[in-house]
Amino acid sequence: MATIESILHENRVFPPTGEFVRNANLSGMNAYETLRQAAERDYTGFWAKLAKQHLTWHKPFTRVFDDTDPPFYKWFDDGELNISWNCLDRHLTTQADKTAIIFESDEGEVIHCSYRELHSQVCRFANGLKTLGVRQGDRVVIYMPMRIEAVVAMQACARIGAIHSVVFGGFSAKSVHERIIDAGASVVITADEQTRGGKRHSLKATVDEALVMSDTNPVHSVVVLRRTGADIAWQKGQDHWWHDLVSQQSDVCEPAWVNAEHPLFTLYTSGSTGKPKGVQHSSAGYLLGAMTSMQLVFDYHTDDIFWCTADVGWVTGHSYVAYGPLAIGATQVIFEGTPTHPHPGRFWEIIQKHKVTTFYTAPTAIRSLIKLGADLPGQYDLSSLRLLGSVGEPINPEAWMWYYTVVGQSRCPVVDTWWQTETGSHMIAPIPGAVPTKPGSCTLPLPGIDAAVVDETGLPVGQGKGGFLVIKRPFPSMLRTLWNDPDRFRNTYFPADIAGGRYYLAGDSAHRDQDGYFWIMGRIDDVLNVSGHRLGTMEIESALVAHPLVAEAAVVGKPHEIKGEIVVAFVVLRENLPEDQRAVAIAATLREWVSSEIGAIARPEEIRFGENLPKTRSGKIMRRLLRALARGEAITQDISTLENPVILEQLSQTV
Ligand code: PRX
Repeated sequence: MATIESILHENRVFPPTGEFVRNANLSGMNAYETLRQAAERDYTGFWAKLAKQHLTWHKPFTRVFDDTDPPFYKWFDDGELNISWNCLDRHLTTQADKTAIIFESDEGEVIHCSYRELHSQVCRFANGLKTLGVRQGDRVVIYMPMRIEAVVAMQACARIGAIHSVVFGGFSAKSVHERIIDAGASVVITADEQTRGGKRHSLKATVDEALVMSDTNPVHSVVVLRRTGADIAWQKGQDHWWHDLVSQQSDVCEPAWVNAEHPLFTLYTSGSTGKPKGVQHSSAGYLLGAMTSMQLVFDYHTDDIFWCTADVGWVTGHSYVAYGPLAIGATQVIFEGTPTHPHPGRFWEIIQKHKVTTFYTAPTAIRSLIKLGADLPGQYDLSSLRLLGSVGEPINPEAWMWYYTVVGQSRCPVVDTWWQTETGSHMIAPIPGAVPTKPGSCTLPLPGIDAAVVDETGLPVGQGKGGFLVIKRPFPSMLRTLWNDPDRFRNTYFPADIAGGRYYLAGDSAHRDQDGYFWIMGRIDDVLNVSGHRLGTMEIESALVAHPLVAEAAVVGKPHEIKGEIVVAFVVLRENLPEDQRAVAIAATLREWVSSEIGAIARPEEIRFGENLPKTRSGKIMRRLLRALARGEAITQDISTLENPVILEQLSQTV
């Protein structure tokens, strides 16, 4: 959000430090400009060169870009490759024994897994999937704890050309069910339970529940990793232990050579209407985006220890855990637990223990760590760090400054990376050896990314003016479509009224300052960002009205010191306004309900009851008014059309 405080920070500039610049992959603004201009002069040539440099092709491409059926663009589409081969096999000749993954469990157990070992695990599991009948193009849902096996499952799908759809382990049975049905998944990969922050959560039981939610479901096999040894229900013929499935398998698995455009995965994300969208990514273009950004934004060096704290259930965990770091041959840390368990210094301890050089996390985590112990980083040796990253939501300048000065000791550049599930990889972010940073700004677009801020017709807005954030030219890592819903893809991302449907509309508003730097202001649609997680207000509203007690509901976001935003629900019950105690009980029931319908991340933090919701004459809910009520702001809108102004008083009381 652009706040007064962030605007005051617009003029604070932090050039890259000399030491960083000396060793950087790209040093100085001139180098950035040269690369940017190269992309501008010969756009497709620029991407073709990178695609040859970063990817290893089984059959080289001759066509770079196909725009014959906009907005269904294709890149490198007569080329063939395999993503798992690009992430694993090609490193075996040069660095088979290099550690690919340093895994640390919730309890603190550490496992080092080399590229050779990871390759072998992936091949054996891929062969196991084949014995279950999984073929190229089949869909596989992955609902796993944050462990090496989650990456193995994803890579194994990629190896045989199956399309995975990872569902974050915090989502409910209903969410798992909806994704299985929409994707038409034939196999689900899960674990008995997951352990996070010392607490165990069932996964297999949730999958079991999801599978019986409709009379028919497309799933014929469920693979179960034994994590905690908990008792679980077992359906013979359908359920397979992971260890049994791989025990007899060969560690050789010829990869499926797929077309560059073959869907690598779908990942469901929230939009402004109720149903989550299955964002569909390509193979080559997607991996190219992940690799280019590893090289430029994370300034990858061979001896780096890279740690991205995101779960593989989100796009960040796809591009910067499961794919990007492996494709570039990095050593990365994967951590199963939470930042503050068993003590608030756990993140800093991990950085110290594993000598992490590049640390990538979300502003919510940074803000909660400040709150739990702003001076804690000083008790650990964080001298291995050389680069810090932020993702998922706007980082407020205070949190940025703390990250930079306390965690990074004013040595490590902070890369604030703006991108989305749909863009597949970083779009606007500083190249740390080249682009000076400003706290709260994601700075400048990466070379080859033609980002702009425009008005509702697609014309550029002036400096300092807010507008829609768009990307004017198709780029390799962008989503290709929405699974089963090409019309929604076109209407959501390439609306005809903005530049005749030629621009990719990100759904964010932004402005640019006098240096052309981008400042993200927030979403333009009804999407909330709670702790860096994207939630559709309509999704939560649909969940609420599905409860028998609820007649009507509206959901808005309210700024929150740590989480960025929280969910506030305005609810009209079927019964009269409840007495205080009953209201508290109903609010608790509804919170639990939303949790079980969607997942705990969607649980409304505040619930307010009223006899009605404020509506316009045409019956539209006045969301702006609700937002003002949620924030406790004075009402400045015209409310003369409201039939019953007393509801404003009711709706300003939180239960
Ligand atoms: O509103 C922007 C915000 O997160 C949205 C994308 O969410 P999702 O698809 O879940 O992907 C999150 C991880 C890439 C964007 O539309 N967002 C993401 N990064 C930033 C951000 N807002 C401000 N600054 C960022 N660096």
